[in-house]
Amino acid sequence: MPDPDPRSVYRAPIGTHDVLPPDSGAWMQVVAAFAARAGRFGYGLVLTPVFEHVEVFQRVGASTDVVRKEMYELTDRGDRRLALRPEGTAPVVRAYVEHRPTPPWKVWYLAPNFRYERPQKGRYRQHWQLGAEVLGTDDAEVDVEVIALAHGFYADLGLTRIRLLLNSMGAPADRAAYVEGLRDYLVSHGASLGDEFLARAREHPLRLLDSKDEAWQEVIERAPQLTEHLGGESRDHFEAVQRGLDTLGIPYELAPRLVRGFDYYTSTTFEFASDALDAAQDAVGGGGRYDQLAEQMGGPPTPGIGFGIGIERVLIACDAEGALPPPQHRLDAFVVDDVGDGSAVSLVNDLRMAGLRADRAYGGRSLKAQMKIANRSHAAYAVILGRVEVERGTVAVKRMDTGDQLEVHREQVAGWLRERCEADVSP
Ligand code: HAM
Repeated sequence: MPDPDPRSVYRAPIGTHDVLPPDSGAWMQVVAAFAARAGRFGYGLVLTPVFEHVEVFQRVGASTDVVRKEMYELTDRGDRRLALRPEGTAPVVRAYVEHRPTPPWKVWYLAPNFRYERPQKGRYRQHWQLGAEVLGTDDAEVDVEVIALAHGFYADLGLTRIRLLLNSMGAPADRAAYVEGLRDYLVSHGASLGDEFLARAREHPLRLLDSKDEAWQEVIERAPQLTEHLGGESRDHFEAVQRGLDTLGIPYELAPRLVRGFDYYTSTTFEFASDALDAAQDAVGGGGRYDQLAEQMGGPPTPGIGFGIGIERVLIACDAEGALPPPQHRLDAFVVDDVGDGSAVSLVNDLRMAGLRADRAYGGRSLKAQMKIANRSHAAYAVILGRVEVERGTVAVKRMDTGDQLEVHREQVAGWLRERCEADVSP
């Protein structure tokens, strides 16, 4: 075999990307904001493997593109059939069934997901999700709590152009009767819309409701709506969710044609759309109830609800809205060493031990070269160890934005910087 072309193999695979500093700073802020909010809501972090037995995912979406066409499947050296996680709910439910924690089990996660999609802006083959799941209660107040968690997170980031779309898929029995009626309607009214429309209407009429195809909209818009065919219990539950959102002042739009891309959904479903993103990829998060999934995985009947939020899309939305100001300074202090006797090693260590973000140059660079690096580091201060100062037991401290410089006692410099930097430390 010829050697592979280094220009194509030593690159991140199509649809994936590296996140480098300083961009990773915004990534960290997003994750920290979510972790803080989930903690305030009483959710604990759950970590599950990146790959699972393929059946874990087949169970949740046998009829969905994510599982049928986009899953990264592999056979390991022990002949096990595995799949890289395409979504976060199935592994969490699998973990619940396996470990049987005391319900209600409230967890959050941060995880990469893998889908063999056609990559474009906001749609990747590896994307990261922040998510939350609650297992063990079908109380409508939990639906409200879960939605409030996501809603508040977008607000924490300063995003304002987010709309909450709300729907109910009803109980499986409601849905089965409705789907039959919907299929009949679509097939009889779509006769002139072509073979593809008819094939999809027959195979998966619900998914057709979400289609963006212009030519089909008129028929789709007039189709019967599931929320009008909910049984009494489902309707009461859906109304209770809406009342709860009203109580918390969380605005929502009823979206009877919102069809989420997994088979496991029952009852409440929702999506958060950003008007700052292209319409084709405007979902910055979505979720819903899956009251039968735990049982389908061999566990006790256990209702559940949760959501997933795409970090990449949230970051694109933050960019488009000018939310998330860049961190003010990456470093508090950059130590510049003009002495070379090892005192820079202990000075930078002292600053770090005092809680400051401190760094230095390596390799015996010239004073000029070190000052250049200090500039590039966006440090708030340069702390310069010069011969004269060292003999006097002091250091020179230079404020990088104004250029002001003064001499501070070596023993006091950490405290001196702490007093000035604390106000500057970005969240
Ligand atoms: P999902 O709607 O497939 O739901 O994904 C959740 C979010 O992940 C989307 O709203 C979007 O922000 C982001 N996302 C999905 N696919 C991609 C992609 N290819 N590239 C970039 N971002 C993407 C789920 O995965 C469910 N597990 C959510 C859930 C949790 N339902 C109940 N609990």
